[in-house]
Amino acid sequence: MCGIMGYAGPQEAAPIIMDGLKRLEYRGYDSAGIAIGNGTIKVTKAEGKIVNLEALLEGEPSNGKIGIGHTRWATHGPPSDANAHPHADPSGEFVVVHNGIIENFQAIRDELAAHGSEFASDTDTELLAHLVAREYDGDLADAVRRTVALSEGAYAMVVMSTREPEKIVAVRKISPLVIGLGDGETFLASDIPAVLHHTRDFLIIEDDEMVIVTAEGASVETIAGDPIDRAVTHIDWDAEQAEKGGYEHFMLKEIYEQPDVITETLGGRISEEGTVWLEDIEFDDAYIAGLDRVWITACGTAYHAGLIGQEIFRRVLRIPANVEYAHELRYADPIIGPSELLIAISQSGETADTLAAARIAPEHGSRMLAITNVVGSTLSRYADDILYTRAGPEISVASTKAYMAMLIAQYLLALRLGAARGTVDRARAQAVAHGLHLMPAAIEEVLRREDQAVVAAERIVDAEDVYFIGRGLDYAIAMEGSLKLKEISYLHSEAMPAGELKHGTLALITEGVPVVAIITQRAVYSKTISAIQEVKARGGKVIAVAYDTDTEIERHADMVLRIPEMNDLLAPVAAVVPLQLLAYHVARLRGHDIDQPRNLAKSVTVE
Ligand code: G6P
Repeated sequence: MCGIMGYAGPQEAAPIIMDGLKRLEYRGYDSAGIAIGNGTIKVTKAEGKIVNLEALLEGEPSNGKIGIGHTRWATHGPPSDANAHPHADPSGEFVVVHNGIIENFQAIRDELAAHGSEFASDTDTELLAHLVAREYDGDLADAVRRTVALSEGAYAMVVMSTREPEKIVAVRKISPLVIGLGDGETFLASDIPAVLHHTRDFLIIEDDEMVIVTAEGASVETIAGDPIDRAVTHIDWDAEQAEKGGYEHFMLKEIYEQPDVITETLGGRISEEGTVWLEDIEFDDAYIAGLDRVWITACGTAYHAGLIGQEIFRRVLRIPANVEYAHELRYADPIIGPSELLIAISQSGETADTLAAARIAPEHGSRMLAITNVVGSTLSRYADDILYTRAGPEISVASTKAYMAMLIAQYLLALRLGAARGTVDRARAQAVAHGLHLMPAAIEEVLRREDQAVVAAERIVDAEDVYFIGRGLDYAIAMEGSLKLKEISYLHSEAMPAGELKHGTLALITEGVPVVAIITQRAVYSKTISAIQEVKARGGKVIAVAYDTDTEIERHADMVLRIPEMNDLLAPVAAVVPLQLLAYHVARLRGHDIDQPRNLAKSVTVE
């Protein structure tokens, strides 16, 4: 996820673009740059926060009335001056900024290199600049169209050129893009808040559309070049609401971003047949074949993602897999050897406990693979192999979309390792790949049922304690559902394997005590039903999370939060969403500061 900004009009472009980039900084902040047109195109860029770019511009201001800018959240290549956008072709006449991922990056790079191209960066974006330059024969929009036809993936790209100096040409393929219409000036941005103080009139660009921007306005077309008559959207949100995309809280916005996050995490990494390519994984098939065990270590929500991972790796690889809290693993005198892989999971890549546990791997001669959201984070620098989750910056302290991306990343890793070990046959790989590709739509469907979570929240908002139960993967999801509720609603809750309830906690189940039962795993379905009956017999109130196709559950539960039917192995991805919404609505009904819960921090950098 990155932030894009553009301007064409009568004013100096640089200060307007810089102001917009600052407002977009929440979308990514590891480097930034701008390109200003004035006969030639002057590109200025800097690693780090936008203040670094600002300092450069103070020394050497860029004058010109048209320009584009970018704030980056790295996906290809670490944050650096060279990898910051904008990127130009070697002549400097075609300049591009871009948000998203070009999936056939390597094929394009190889092809360009074979024809003698040299590259100034590690990015996929630079390739777009090369392609636009190569494809240009007198019409910038046509050159961009041909470039889009060659570039697979989900992205937004924005191009300017000295050849057609009054224009900015942009394309949206999934990554967001809006046009702000001013009086004799036009703005382009990744989202509305970046330009809301300039105008309240917007053209919202949809997927597979192109827009040609000049100072006089913008024309929207299909990528094929057919004109589109896009109605102007007038925005009356205030600036704070706008930053949250119209949602009341960042948490809700991030919950709703999850279908897109899944698309990003999968992007370019898995075929329909289930073949997986992971770009920053260095180990080879021989190493994978010799693996005896997988360790996972993490804290908080990342640990809960690891709980799912442990089960997936066991099932798919048929070798032992253990997840341990990072703060425990470190002092547990673990028996880890060279034939064991340690996977450290951390959204931020900066959690002190996780970093300390990750250091155990080299001490024992084993490899450490980082699953993290932040390119260039400390954890990624310690790692032998890296799997970036591509969730984009997460603002709400309670993690939702970052957790989702960690799950998806682990499915990819399991398929990759399983293929090399010969434990995943083609049919299974294909089935999982199919399920993953359908997942964004399945999550959209769950989100459309938010009102069910509101009803469930109303039922538990006044409770003193809430219990979450499930078995196997459902238990792992119960853990995350319980943590979400605790973190933001301050309601006491506890999660346990459904079979454990009768060994003690059942003493606390009395009339009206709410129990959330996750029941997606068919192999243990009747066992979970037994636990639900134990609860019902004591007067407890059961809210179940179950498949649409499960008709049996209605006979046992007081209320059912439904998810679409799917492969049980993938069910956690969908089952967590109603629980996120449940926690959110309980906290909202209780009037809490949802995005910044008391006593908690997004990233805990002390042990
Ligand atoms: C803190 C946050 C949690 C997060 C945990 C691990 O406790 O409040 O939401 O899950 O740290 O963070 P990490 O960045 O390592 O995933």
